[in-house]
Parts: sequence; C-alpha cells; structure tokens
Amino acid sequence: MSDEAVKSKLSPIYRYKDLERHAQKKLSHEVFTYIQSGSGHEETLRANEEAFKKWKLVPEFLQDVSTRDLSISVLGQTYPSPFLLAPVGHLGAAHPEGELAVARAARGKQVPYVASTVSTYTLEEIADTLGDTPRWFQLYCSKDPELTVSFLRRAEKAGYSAIVITIDTPALGFREADLTNQFFPVREGYGSANYFQDPVFRNRLDVTPEQNRAAAIDELVNITFQPKLTWKDLAFLREQTHLPIILKGVLHPNDAKRAIDYGVDGVVVSNHGGRQLDGAIASLDALPKVAEAVNGRIPILFDSGIRRGPDVVKAMSLGADAVLIGRPYVYGLAYNGQAGVEEVLSHLLADIDTTLATAGKSSIRACQAPEFVQHLSNS
Ligand code: FNR
Repeated sequence: MSDEAVKSKLSPIYRYKDLERHAQKKLSHEVFTYIQSGSGHEETLRANEEAFKKWKLVPEFLQDVSTRDLSISVLGQTYPSPFLLAPVGHLGAAHPEGELAVARAARGKQVPYVASTVSTYTLEEIADTLGDTPRWFQLYCSKDPELTVSFLRRAEKAGYSAIVITIDTPALGFREADLTNQFFPVREGYGSANYFQDPVFRNRLDVTPEQNRAAAIDELVNITFQPKLTWKDLAFLREQTHLPIILKGVLHPNDAKRAIDYGVDGVVVSNHGGRQLDGAIASLDALPKVAEAVNGRIPILFDSGIRRGPDVVKAMSLGADAVLIGRPYVYGLAYNGQAGVEEVLSHLLADIDTTLATAGKSSIRACQAPEFVQHLSNS
C-alpha cells in the first residue's frame, strides 16, 4: 500500500486528547514531552486551559446564520481564518518534513503561518513552500544585534509581512521535564537552520558549521536569547524595519501601554503555552485588562490554551482580534505530517463555523462583543 493510501486509512481524530495520544505514539518519550510539557510545576500550563471554563457564552437566537464569515482583518490585511499558526521551533523533531509540511498544509487552507527563528528549515525555504500564503516571522533577538538585523533583512526579502518579537524569553523557562530527560532540541540541531545559513552568524565562527557542528551549536546556544534586551532596543529595532512589529508575550497591561508608546503595531497576549514563567497568569485571564489598556489602538492577538472553536470565540469576545494555535497543529504534524496538520486545521475551522451557527452569530466579528461572554463569578 502506498503512503497516501495508508494515510487515507487513518480514521479522523476529533478529540484533542486523542490527537495528543496519537502524536505520543509516533514520538520518542523525550520529543513528546518537550512539546507537551510546560515549565516548573506546570501551574500555568494547566491554568491556560482551565481559564476557558470560567467564561461562558451567552447566545442569542433567531438570527439568520445561513452564511457565516470566519474572516478577520489585522494590520490592514484580511485573513480567511480567525487563527494563525503560532511560531513553534524545532519542528523537525516532530516530523522529518517539519515546518515544510506545516507550510504546505497552511497553504492549502490559506491559514497564516508565523515561522519561528529556531526552525528546522530556513525562513526562506518556509517562505518558498508557503507561496502566496500570508506569513509573519517570529524573532528571537540574539545577543548579536547584527545577527538580529540580518534576520530582519532576510525576513523582509522572503516576503514576511510582519515581525513578531517574542519578549517572554530573556532565558529559557525552567522546564523540569526536559531537564529530567536531558533533552534540548537546540543541542540536537533542530533549530539551527536560520543561524547556520546566516552570513553574520557564520562570520562569528572560527570554522564553518559544516566543519565543526558542535562548536557552531555551542555558539548558537550562547547567543540565541538576549537577557539584556530592554525597551530601548525595541526603539532601535523599530528603526530597522518598515514591517509592522508585534510583541508576543504581553500579560501586563503596562507592557501593552509601553508597546504603544514605542510604536509597536500589535501585541500577542501569551504566556508561551505555559513554557516560560510558571505561576504566570493564564493568558485568557490576562486578556481583559490588556484589552482595556489598549482600547482599540492596536490589534490584540491571543494564544495559550486554544483547543476548540468555542475557545477561539471566547478569546475574541474578550478583546482578541485573532488567535494563534500551537500544540494542536504540532500534534497533527507528529501524527500524520502534512495530512495531520490539514486535518487539525479543517476540524478547527469546522468547529468555529459550528460555534458561530449554534451561538446565533453570522460572523466571527460579531463575537467581538463583551456581552456575549460572562464570567462564572457574575452569573
Ligand atoms: C513554542 N512556542 C514558541 N514561541 C515562540 O515565540 N518561538 C518559538 O520558537 C516557540 N517554540 C515553541 C515550541 C513548542 C514545542 C511549543 C509547544 C511552543 C510558543 C508558541 O508560539 C505559543 O505561544 C504556544 O504554543 C501557545 O500555546 P498552545 O496553543 O500550545 O497552548
């Protein structure tokens, strides 16, 4: 039987738990744990999903919902789906085709893709695979500003239309599971492509990565995160590119206000899927105050804990203009490559569509109304 025939024999997966289980079967213990786990005691990881249960939707009926519009507008662009694929690094650990399989699936559905700095394939290869699919580039500001600017230039040239700067990673979270397993995908080389192909990075090395891979990886690990980064550096980056800049990892309303002061074009309310500061506020619980502080001045994106259609709608009713999903599509990739990601995207789109119909809403935009959602404590 051909690979395709085998794939088509796989029965569809609808439940998130089943998706996670199928991915687990395909992966080594270390890789699955790397994707699934959070930092510390995983308080924040759990809180992210729990937070959704505290908010309840209040539908209104006898509206015409015979056609439903899932499209959104962010930064002057219209996207056909209300979610984007979150930047997830090291995808070669989940599947040999890694980001390229995800990019093919994204292209089929025209779902925008946010490519990670620490991807297994280069940002240029991902861009080629995406064709005309909207794409943003997620930037980890490195200790070498020249390298950071080089990444910016490459992203501009490869047709990325926004830069997502992740601010919640001055250092990697204390990820007990990965420390226990001694599994660090950067060390395995899964996140090196953008660095090894970069002239500025190569210049930093005594010998090329092809000649001494271990030394090149050591250097990469050494410079990936810049703990000295401050708002002043942001002003520098703002001058370096004409592309919109979006800050990912905003939880405090003060950071949202500073972002606006520094000319940032959007924020992502996110706690990195519970992988950074353990004990941090659940992303959904942080959203209302950030939305209040932003007061419509710049778009707000949201991630961490989105699993189903109603989650998307709850986040949008609490002030998000769009959401990102992380682990669900990574599990699809692990379980069945491009087809697995396509399946996850199709099911989520169908779930959102059904959520609209059963909530009496004819568009996702109509969900952006505070009275559509109610906190349990107020019911
Ligand atoms: C991530 N995330 C992430 N974020 C980022 O800005 N750059 C990155 O390279 C990565 N890498 C990464 C790897 C893995 C395995 C995971 C699970 C997550 C965080 C990601 O963009 C997003 O914030 C969360 O995944 C959202 O939470 P959910 O949807 O996974 O609950």
